[in-house]
Amino acid sequence: MKKLTEIWAGSNARFEALLAGHYAAHGEPQEKLFEAMDYSLLAGGKRLRPFLVYQFCAACGGRPEDADPAALAIELVHTYSLIHDDLPAMDNDDYRRGRLTNHKVYGDAMAILAGDGLLTDAFAVLASAPLPAERIAACVRILAKNAGPWGMVGGQVLDIQSEERELTEREVLDIQHRKTGALIRAACEMGVVCGGGSSAQRTSARCYADRVGLAFQIRDDVLDVIGYAEKLGKAVGVDAQKNTFVRLYGLESCQKLIETQTELACLALEDFENTTTLRETAEYLANRDH
Ligand code: IPE
Ligand code: IPE
Ligand code: MG
Ligand code: MG
Ligand code: MG
Repeated sequence: MKKLTEIWAGSNARFEALLAGHYAAHGEPQEKLFEAMDYSLLAGGKRLRPFLVYQFCAACGGRPEDADPAALAIELVHTYSLIHDDLPAMDNDDYRRGRLTNHKVYGDAMAILAGDGLLTDAFAVLASAPLPAERIAACVRILAKNAGPWGMVGGQVLDIQSEERELTEREVLDIQHRKTGALIRAACEMGVVCGGGSSAQRTSARCYADRVGLAFQIRDDVLDVIGYAEKLGKAVGVDAQKNTFVRLYGLESCQKLIETQTELACLALEDFENTTTLRETAEYLANRDH
């Protein structure tokens, strides 16, 4: 049987080709914008969210082609969120995905616009998907709800507002649920929709996503303390003043919590067939080093 890392690498090879071709050969006068968008988009990254779209689509009997538009759309939105997250007005970070951040190379204005471009185009990609109209509409709704003011953007606002004070456990969990959880949730749920899954399967996918998403952000906070910048492709030790899970629980309890959430995530997969890869993905993420 193929190892998870081989399956993920195979899926990424296909996805990278899709990404590389997306803005190629446009010949438009606003060439600099596409260059800035591609700079962050084609800088690597784990491609976790697209992988989850493909895997949930497959777990419902769908083909990779059915999942391509949603996989592309979620990575466009995720990349936009990273470009804006790194801006001086937000986290003010210099490195991302192993290179200088977008605004360090193209300036703040172009970085803001590159993010805007990626976000808007994500919805054009979804709306043009060769899928039945009701599946397209469902995906648009899922992505908009999770990326927007109730989801990721809302979480980013709460994260920024929380910098001046100590948060309760409930508040930290709520921020995570929106800031990081929402896009992971959108990926899993859109995968089910693209594969023609049932509404019960959509609920189960959200359940898996919520647990994996929580474990993912806790591990992100842990890696800020114990990780290596070369591996992560971004600076470490930058969250010391923030309301991270490490500050809330301490390192040791964080890893225990990650493990519990991972086990719970796997329990949510009963409604699907061939869940080995999704189970192994959750387990792999629990101990990731990048
Ligand atoms: C980073 O996401 C931002 C968080 C939500 C913690 P990833 O760790 O998935 O970043 P890439 O896509 O691999 O660069
Ligand atoms: C960012 O969270 C989440 C989003 C980009 C929406 P962080 O600020 O913790 O992500 P990193 O650590 O910069 O990747
Ligand atoms: Mg941030
Ligand atoms: Mg950040
Ligand atoms: Mg972080």
